[in-house]
Amino acid sequence: MTVRLTRRYGFAASHRLHSRALSDEENRRTYGKCNNPHGHGHNYEIEITVRGEVNRVTGRLVELGRLDRIAEEQILRPLRYRNLNEEVPVFRELVPTTENLAAELDRRLRSAWPEVFPEGGPVLEKLRILETERNICEINHA
Ligand code: NI
Repeated sequence: MTVRLTRRYGFAASHRLHSRALSDEENRRTYGKCNNPHGHGHNYEIEITVRGEVNRVTGRLVELGRLDRIAEEQILRPLRYRNLNEEVPVFRELVPTTENLAAELDRRLRSAWPEVFPEGGPVLEKLRILETERNICEINHA
């Protein structure tokens, strides 16, 4: 029987939404107050959903320690308390919107997944990021 498990993590980070490809006026129109030159912070929450079979011996779908490790190494430690625009190289070029952040976090998890789960392990099905209660983005590989 296939089951899904979701684990939630959180980190604080700051950013500014500003595209170099747009004029200052276009940036203000596109991003509103999120274009404030001095940036602002969010308490991001992320949810990682994995899918697979329950291990008969452990009764678990995934070793939570390994899931926590990949989340810590790939997402929480590199991003916690960072200014995303200045301190996370990919966002020197890409605007750190929720959409681009979700894509980057998904890419990081996927690239490290085979090393953390070398014997196969669960499938990474979905990554969900909550920037605010009202702004939520998800990448679903189901
Ligand atoms: Ni923001």
